[in-house]
Amino acid sequence: MKLQPIEHQHLKECADLFISVFSNPPWNEDWEIESALNRLEDLYDMPRQHSVVAIVEDQIIGFAIGYIERWYQGKSFYLKEICIDSTRQRSGIGTKIMDVLSQNLVSQGVNKIYLLTGRDTPASAFYEKCGFCNNSKIIMMSKKVQ
Ligand SMILES: CC(C)(COP(=O)(O)OP(=O)(O)OC[C@H]1O[C@@H](n2cnc3c(N)ncnc32)[C@H](O)[C@@H]1OP(=O)(O)O)[C@@H](O)C(=O)NCCC(=O)NCCS
Repeated sequence: MKLQPIEHQHLKECADLFISVFSNPPWNEDWEIESALNRLEDLYDMPRQHSVVAIVEDQIIGFAIGYIERWYQGKSFYLKEICIDSTRQRSGIGTKIMDVLSQNLVSQGVNKIYLLTGRDTPASAFYEKCGFCNNSKIIMMSKKVQ
């Protein structure tokens, strides 16, 4: 398995993978290819973007992408998306991607990774196994404006 930064030429295949993975429970998301590609293009174009893609026999089987934010206490990384091919989940690929991502980020002076995810989901169990913990001092708030 090759682990490397996402290149622009990978985005369409990443978008196809993203649509397929997030169509499954608990997410049940219904992405059009154009919207998924737009989202990944936007993330790819973010300043200080950082990513890892996993490739096996020229096929993309997982990726993670986010960006570094500068904060008064140093640099944090906001992990925006991670997904692994549904047929290959639970075989250690997500952990490998997270490890490589973390090592690369440390070498760039990042001291914290943070993310949003669903409460009590398989993803939250994965993040806990990777050493993340819930920050009880922070809540996510949102408001519909239309
Ligand atoms: C979440 C995800 C990225 C994890 O990657 P993965 O390659 O499947 O995870 P790993 O095989 O490295 O799992 C490591 C550990 O995480 C936990 N974990 C992973 N998937 C889990 C699941 N479905 N249920 C419970 N725990 C899980 C386990 O503790 C696991 O260790 P174990 O298998 O020895 O018990 C991947 O399953 C995925 O793409 N899920 C769908 C998309 C998603 O939810 N993305 C995150 C949105 S915020």
